[in-house]
Amino acid sequence: MKPFVKWAGGKRQILDKINEFIEDSIDKDSSFTYIEPFLGGGAVFFNRMPSKAIINDLNVDLINAYEVIKSDKYLELIDALDRHANAYNHDPDDYYYEIRSWDREEGWPDNHSAVERAARMIFLNRTCYNGLYRVNSKGQFNTPIGRYRNPTICDRENITEIHNYLSSKDNQIEIMKDSYEFAINKAGDGDVIYIDPPYDYEDDDGFTKYQMKGFTFDDFTKLKQTCDEAINRGAFVIVSNNATTKVINLFEQDPHYKIFYDINQISTLRSINCNGGKRKSGKEVIFWGMPNSIPFPQANDMDKIIKLVMSDESVLTDKQRACEVIGVNTSRQVAYYLSALLYLKYLTHDKKFTDRANAIRTNEVALKKDIYNQLKENDMFLEPYNTYKVNGKINIENIKKKIANANPKMAESTVNRRSSTIRAWVEWMYLIDKENIL
Ligand SMILES: C[S@@+](CC[C@H](N)C(=O)[O-])C[C@H]1O[C@@H](n2cnc3c(N)ncnc32)[C@H](O)[C@@H]1O
Repeated sequence: MKPFVKWAGGKRQILDKINEFIEDSIDKDSSFTYIEPFLGGGAVFFNRMPSKAIINDLNVDLINAYEVIKSDKYLELIDALDRHANAYNHDPDDYYYEIRSWDREEGWPDNHSAVERAARMIFLNRTCYNGLYRVNSKGQFNTPIGRYRNPTICDRENITEIHNYLSSKDNQIEIMKDSYEFAINKAGDGDVIYIDPPYDYEDDDGFTKYQMKGFTFDDFTKLKQTCDEAINRGAFVIVSNNATTKVINLFEQDPHYKIFYDINQISTLRSINCNGGKRKSGKEVIFWGMPNSIPFPQANDMDKIIKLVMSDESVLTDKQRACEVIGVNTSRQVAYYLSALLYLKYLTHDKKFTDRANAIRTNEVALKKDIYNQLKENDMFLEPYNTYKVNGKINIENIKKKIANANPKMAESTVNRRSSTIRAWVEWMYLIDKENIL
């Protein structure tokens, strides 16, 4: 399914890459909400068509169009677009500027219905210069007319398809028109957030005025904090932007090291829309955030943990190598194992081995002994371990209760995953006892 508007920053070129990160973040066994707080034309959203989603943009004109398409009024919208197309074909210039001037009228926007406003928005988007949504300091749309020979103003089929998807009873698509943080703050454990904020530009003269007030570097700093918080609640976050030094530093050099961000730079051909205009090559960056301290991460295999700790330090920052070393396929799994290292106090928040790890990591027996002792000192493991020793069984329900009591807001599926790690680590302790190697 494709967007119904052309939008600056549309993500077609790096769609596959973004999709890879989204796929990596999804837990196939549990349901999750897909959240896109800077929706724009929604290239990624429409490409994925998630069944549970929260979509948001601060642009009220744009979001009104989404709401109308979702509602029963979408047929009226199609009729209104047909009328615009006819009138435009008759006299493009006059008609374009007449419709553009609606937001200069007394009483705007309430003097036009939601359907009329949505039709105007789509019509202007289809016929204006490069599909550029630009407003002046009074919030009035001021992009000049574009020079298209035969613009598609009413794509009946696409709008109908989008309506069917957004309004289907099988789907839950919540549409919001707030600032991004309201949407991100709704994310919880296991949810996946794709974040495509207005571009940062190295020289500050680029195009960032989607809204009257551009997106400033301060906004980026706040956005980063909001992402950190969501990740700490267990959500997975993918952020894409221009690869400017400022933005990369912001994500790379976090003084608090609350979150690990994987930084991936990608070369692209860039223009302000997908339709041409000025194109130049550039670099985009995708940040993929992972929590640094999931309590009892899903990292069941103690051998993988041992392999990671015994590898050279570069493995901690090279996702590809980490996948090879521990034999997993996805960054998500690497993230879980890195979390386990943090939990066991072998990793610092800036992704280096701790002194504790360095003192023992060339000696497998010493390493196993340290892990074993750490688990024994931890009641979450000690209690199931003692029962296991007595009757050869682990009471998994007890473990789940313990985790749920300690984390009342945790989703049941997460509790189950965490409990399976505890079980696996307790079984590993028992194996160590049997091998008698310590
Ligand atoms: C780079 S565009 C997103 C493009 C989108 N990925 C696409 O496929 O078309 C950024 C969007 O962020 C919106 N925006 C700007 N400031 C915002 C804010 N504070 N909260 C939410 N949305 C905002 C703009 O209206 C614009 O649509």
